[in-house]
Amino acid sequence: MTFHPPKGTDDIGAPESHVWRAVLQDWESWAGRYGYPLVLTPLFEATELFERGVGGDTEVVSKQMYTFTDKGGRSVTLRPEGTAGVVRAYLDSGAKGAWKGAYSGPMFRYERPQAGRRRQFWQVGVEYLDVEGPAADAEVIELGYRYLTAVAVPGLEVVVNSLGDEVCRPAYVALLRRYLEEKRPELCDDSLSLIDLNPLRVLDCKVCAPVLTDAPAMSEHLCDPCAGHYLAVKESLRSVDIAFREDARLVRGLDYYTRTAFEYVATGLAAAQNAVGGGGRYDGLAEALGGRRMPGVGFALGIDRIVLSSSLEPISDVDVYVVSEGTTIDALRTASELRREGLRADFDTEGRSVSAQFRTLSRVGARGVVVTRGGDEVEVRIADERETLPLSKASEWLKGRL
Ligand code: HAM
Repeated sequence: MTFHPPKGTDDIGAPESHVWRAVLQDWESWAGRYGYPLVLTPLFEATELFERGVGGDTEVVSKQMYTFTDKGGRSVTLRPEGTAGVVRAYLDSGAKGAWKGAYSGPMFRYERPQAGRRRQFWQVGVEYLDVEGPAADAEVIELGYRYLTAVAVPGLEVVVNSLGDEVCRPAYVALLRRYLEEKRPELCDDSLSLIDLNPLRVLDCKVCAPVLTDAPAMSEHLCDPCAGHYLAVKESLRSVDIAFREDARLVRGLDYYTRTAFEYVATGLAAAQNAVGGGGRYDGLAEALGGRRMPGVGFALGIDRIVLSSSLEPISDVDVYVVSEGTTIDALRTASELRREGLRADFDTEGRSVSAQFRTLSRVGARGVVVTRGGDEVEVRIADERETLPLSKASEWLKGRL
């Protein structure tokens, strides 16, 4: 009998994992530059957290959750996204005041799998909590943009919209619903089922898009505070040279958004997987979870999609490969010495021929080579340079050139 990964999940090893590592290392570096420390929350949470936080009527909650009853009779769910868990953790900690957290890890959604749409997928993201000012939105959007640019996502576009708040959205939703009622005969079945439930989501429907060109736009029905916030976010983005496109149709698939909503689109990828990330403000989420009023803003990026599109140079696992013209023990001893000096070194444990060892070295992509013949001296090589040195001097020589 053979086993395979469950449908919609992947085994990822080298060389593909080299790209994953490059992309994840860059994430840590960029999140750090903007002052976001790592936050770790459980991979599963009480099911109700997502029902109340993300919204029971959303596709993610109603159709895509991995929910089960644990041995203690509690209903728990593998997290389909990270925001609800991070907000829960912050409220639970009793902390107050501006707070930042960056996360990186697997999420789970029961989707129809295809390239870039997986049942277990990896998100990186940030949440910036207890902050209200538009500069927070701009900082968050800028971080995502700079990171995606650094990992070489092609044709990157930032798309923004404002979804209003509890003051202005109800009147807009009523207006949109009246408009959709008039269009009823032309709408698809999915959209028809959303008119009562969540009419904003109809704006997202690709099938109905041609019918909805003159739909009322939320951004034209914002109350003064929301309009002012949206204007200030756009000005702030311009001040840090982030080009963006406004799209009145951008509504997002999760219910917690208020005011700013945005997406990062990789125009170089096929439409089904070109949404490489998205986020926005969620000023009502903490209250929906039973906490105090606590505004926040954040985003998540899909690493599976970023890896598909990135042209980043993969990072090799090995700096130096040890080739032994003597015994395997000579190679073991030499590699051990280099590793203790902080180099990533590897060698052949199977005693194969020198030419076989050289073949392995080019496969693993090591830039440095150390040839040992069993004595105290070794030959070190990088590109066209080579020298014979005592083993104790080899790591210094290599480090200066790697
Ligand atoms: P989301 O738009 O549902 O937002 O997901 C963010 C990104 O995760 C998507 O743009 C996509 O790149 C990736 N993604 C989503 N589902 C899949 C999948 N099945 N397979 C591969 N990649 C996928 C959120 O999750 C929000 N929590 C973002 C946020 C954070 N908003 C505020 N803070």
